[in-house]
Amino acid sequence: MTEAARTAHDPAEQPALHTVGRDLFSKFDPLIAERQALLDTGVRDPFAIVMDEVHSPVLATIQGRETILLGTYNYMGMTFDPDVIEAGKRALDAFGSGTTGSRVLNGTYQGHKEVEEALRAFYGTRHAMVFSTGYQANLGLMSTIAGKEDYIILDADSHASIYDGCALGNAQIVRFRHNSADDLDKRLGRLPAEGGRLVVLEGVYSMLGDIAPLKEMVAVARKHGAMIVVDEAHGMGFFGPNGRGVFEEAGVEDQVDFVVGTFSKSVGTVGGFVVSNHPKFEVLRLVCRPYVFTASLPPSVVATAATSIRKLMHAGNKRAHLWENSRRLHQGLRDLGFTLATREAESAIIAVLLPDQQSTVLMWQALLEQGVYVNMARPPATPAGMYLLRCSLCAEHTAGQVETILERFAAAGRATGCIG
Ligand SMILES: Cc1ncc(COP(=O)(O)O)c(C=O)c1O
Repeated sequence: MTEAARTAHDPAEQPALHTVGRDLFSKFDPLIAERQALLDTGVRDPFAIVMDEVHSPVLATIQGRETILLGTYNYMGMTFDPDVIEAGKRALDAFGSGTTGSRVLNGTYQGHKEVEEALRAFYGTRHAMVFSTGYQANLGLMSTIAGKEDYIILDADSHASIYDGCALGNAQIVRFRHNSADDLDKRLGRLPAEGGRLVVLEGVYSMLGDIAPLKEMVAVARKHGAMIVVDEAHGMGFFGPNGRGVFEEAGVEDQVDFVVGTFSKSVGTVGGFVVSNHPKFEVLRLVCRPYVFTASLPPSVVATAATSIRKLMHAGNKRAHLWENSRRLHQGLRDLGFTLATREAESAIIAVLLPDQQSTVLMWQALLEQGVYVNMARPPATPAGMYLLRCSLCAEHTAGQVETILERFAAAGRATGCIG
């Protein structure tokens, strides 16, 4: 590339085109300034990490250093499963790189039917509908089934895709206090008798790694005649005798109307879904805009997902090892003196709470320099203005790697003054 061409592609060298009137980007000025102030202190940008090479579900090279991955949500380590990879390669050869079409036009291939069949088998439901992401599954379900006469009652700590699904639709939104069955009861009790009700719950809340008391919540929702959706994005693969999620473990499978999930965590690829036994469920394929007005998943992706889901049906040993890893990391971090979001390991997410942005970024960077990658999370993504480092364990982490992670946390914590 010539120097002129390089300059032409460098955004820093480009004057803003919009010089008259209000620049619509000016509302982001405080965020840009805050981010710049942070980077000026010399820390690396926690939201701009590049994985130069990925060797396995738990190891990557980041800036020349071999790094243990502890922030990927790749709970069951399926991304490098040989059968999964083989299925993807075969589908790529047989069906090409993409469908270039919507599910309701030219974008349903045999593989899309197969992955929906795998989901029906996994969940034991009559219906399964695959979306291009879990985000779109929530967007689609919330915005389509609850109309303007209806109410969506959701946990205050719900995932952004649930909130965005509500924003896309016309229903009235009522929030209840995180994981509070009493507050849910109170808010449902105040609603007018007319109008449908949809209660939205998550099995595992991904910021703090805490699980919902689904038995109580579902009983309350049922008492008030509400339909129920549970998002099991972080519960699938890990909870319940068949790995269906927290709702299976809680024994409320027959009382939940819809389960939303994603392929981007335990399944190890990309995509989203809703499963249900509702007799009219299939009509959603015609009326759900985030399903209709977007291209379907590539054939290689649905082939990897179907293979992975079928293997997850027999992954009891992996689940047991993931629990061991999660409990060991939680206990080890607590013993080192870190403040954790939950009293014990409730899921494969262990959230380390830190007092402010500066110490969180310093700790995050110190860990990276030690060769451990974790997710950093900050407001507004986190509840109650919290700063935290989210660790997510994988069934492929060895017991030895968990001990190494703990040693590196100890070193990073002491170097940054986060622990004594
Ligand atoms: C609870 C929850 N629901 C839905 C999603 C969206 O999943 P996807 O990555 O497939 O868009 C996520 C992803 O982080 C999530 O945590």
